[in-house]
Amino acid sequence: MVPRDTNDRITTEWGRVYAENPSVYQIPHPERIARLGRGDFMTAISKIGLPTKARVLEAGCGSGRDSLYLASCGHRVVALDRFDTPRRHLAAARARYENSKGPIDLEIVSGDILDLPFAANEFDLVFNSGVLEHYACSTKRAAIISEMVRVARHGGLVAISVPNLHHPFRPVWDVLLSRYTNHDNYDLAEVALTTTELRGDLDVQGLEVVFCERIDVWETISHFPRSVALRGLTMGANFAFPRPMGSIFRRFGTRLLVCARKRSRLAPSSDTKD
Ligand SMILES: C[S@@+](CC[C@H](N)C(=O)[O-])C[C@H]1O[C@@H](n2cnc3c(N)ncnc32)[C@H](O)[C@@H]1O
Repeated sequence: MVPRDTNDRITTEWGRVYAENPSVYQIPHPERIARLGRGDFMTAISKIGLPTKARVLEAGCGSGRDSLYLASCGHRVVALDRFDTPRRHLAAARARYENSKGPIDLEIVSGDILDLPFAANEFDLVFNSGVLEHYACSTKRAAIISEMVRVARHGGLVAISVPNLHHPFRPVWDVLLSRYTNHDNYDLAEVALTTTELRGDLDVQGLEVVFCERIDVWETISHFPRSVALRGLTMGANFAFPRPMGSIFRRFGTRLLVCARKRSRLAPSSDTKD
């Protein structure tokens, strides 16, 4: 079967999402983002070890809430997306954040993740979340990852997060989402990627995988339907048991996160004879 996965289709569909839902992915309380944190994804990345004032790229940022969070932690962040609407939302969120908390280093740029407008080896961390699963064609996914790897510095990190479509509640969520949201209006079907596949995709590019897990277990409570009460319960559970371990709990991770290190350039051999 030929994957219907031209960049044009994906671009058209994201264009329709933003044109028809102009407030989608807005960040409701940007000034609270540092206090609330961003769950397992950011916790894992911070633990793996970013230098202070790390140079970070989010490739396909959407609302850019993770970029905003990392910038609020003092990192120097570039958030890239093809579309005006999410970039405008993020600029508004940044302004609101800066009004209440002071300046942060967050640059918002237009660009294509398949052809990143940066030189090689620029960033300490290159990541995205909720992007790769929309590309059905594995060659296209490999091309996106290859661009992310190119702009990461040697010894830097590449991190990818996608939804866990093998979650035990997924079939129920799919029915509810198609009944109560307009997701089905858009041709942005998600590919059910696994941690093994993501690990393989990064391995093949010569990276050393340092973290590979299902994350955001407690989001199970509030994934769908979404309500303030369930959100509060999730936050309470996250606070009381920040990282529930064990394979049973892990099955309930709502997202997958794979994080890998670009190997350091080998030092030139000193014993070469002339
Ligand atoms: C689901 S959203 C990301 C969600 C984001 N992580 C958040 O928390 O809001 C996916 C984003 O990827 C962007 N995207 C998809 N393909 C792209 C491409 N080829 N170049 C740049 N951006 C792209 C879309 O425009 C969209 O804003």
